[in-house]
Amino acid sequence: MKEELLNRSIEELLAFDRNYIWHPYSSIENPLEVFLVESAEGVRLKLGDGRELIDGMASWWSVIHGYNHPLLTETIEKQAKKLAHVMFGGLTHAPGIELAKLLVKYTPEGLNRVFFCDSGSVAVEVAMKMAMQYHFALSRGGQNRKNRFLTIRSGYHGDTFHAMSVCDPVGGMHSIYDGVLPRYFFADAPSCRFEDDWDERDILSFESLIRTHHDNLCAVILEPIVQGAGGMRFYHPEYLRCVRRLCDEYRVLLIADEIATGFGRSGELFGCNHAGITPDIMCLGKALTGGYMTLAAVVAKERVGRVISEGNPGIFMHGPTFMANPLACSVAVSSFELLISSDWQERISGIENKLSEGLSPCRLIPGVADVRALGAIGVVELEKPVNMERIQKRFVENGVWVRPFGKLVYVMPPYIINDKDLQFLTEAICRVVEIESSIE
Ligand SMILES: Cc1ncc(COP(=O)(O)O)c(C=O)c1O
Repeated sequence: MKEELLNRSIEELLAFDRNYIWHPYSSIENPLEVFLVESAEGVRLKLGDGRELIDGMASWWSVIHGYNHPLLTETIEKQAKKLAHVMFGGLTHAPGIELAKLLVKYTPEGLNRVFFCDSGSVAVEVAMKMAMQYHFALSRGGQNRKNRFLTIRSGYHGDTFHAMSVCDPVGGMHSIYDGVLPRYFFADAPSCRFEDDWDERDILSFESLIRTHHDNLCAVILEPIVQGAGGMRFYHPEYLRCVRRLCDEYRVLLIADEIATGFGRSGELFGCNHAGITPDIMCLGKALTGGYMTLAAVVAKERVGRVISEGNPGIFMHGPTFMANPLACSVAVSSFELLISSDWQERISGIENKLSEGLSPCRLIPGVADVRALGAIGVVELEKPVNMERIQKRFVENGVWVRPFGKLVYVMPPYIINDKDLQFLTEAICRVVEIESSIE
């Protein structure tokens, strides 16, 4: 009887959800199935119907320490009793200050001006505004022509308007806004892979664009080393070093969007560390709070802050309501401390080995174009886009949470995943990819 009631209430909840709630990238009239999560612990999502799934997605790169981590949960509980929120205009607080200290200490040398905001996309907006305002200030009231951006194809930087303008324009998620979005410059995506020998021809397209347009460029924006939602591509660190050199040569700022790569995901604390470069502005989000809350940060070089402050109007024109929310900052401090006090590098390289090994049988499956792993990211690229509804259901039936897009079946599990659960995850992927590829 109790179970019947339970099931009925789950069905009612799901029926309401289906009729009234918009999910990410979905149709409100004809939505795909969603699954009700009741709670989560470690690497396991517990569904309303009692099933448990091993989470391969870390809730879109963010839950690096797993769900309901005792220390993080305790931090947020304590902070909630002290100060859940207060405006940041004219006021400040210890969690924000402590987090800024950590960011200044651990981001690449020279980044030391911190701006907090709400989400990854907003961080990208903030970084782009900073770059524009920097060159506006340098023009000293004259005509500022350096107000456009250069980026690389296959990139993804978020869903707000300016972030969309630097996402891959062709076949990308935002192509329907073409014509409304500002038109910027796109170099060919790097084709030299992370593990390949460097081929200097890879930088030619970028070099030619920056040389031709630098008079109009305020900044280059890119995802360092790992291009995420635009194709899950891992490119060569030398590409990044060349970009840094060319940006310096042509007085163009470099914005590193580390929203997905930050906090160890690619095997280094930040993607830029693979190349040993410091960008002028870095965007952080996602794993910043260990996936507990939404928060993002933009960290810039001292010079960026100084030039903006010395120019007109002398202030940086941005200030969201929930800037530096104390709950989010306090859990971010705990998450960051937990990460750096752990053996994260060893753990992530262990995950990389297990993902490479565990996903390699997929190479033999017809319809699989490529299998790759870097850090705690594993990718099976198919020749054709998946049938989302069918494959999603099949993953759940196999006890794992994996959410592919397009031709990409990929995972980036919480770093605390153990070998047994990782094996369960990769075996489920191989099984499901095999079944799916046998269906025409
Ligand atoms: C590299 C990158 N930049 C920006 C964003 C946007 O972040 P958010 O979804 O928090 O707005 C994402 C999200 O996937 C991302 O991967």
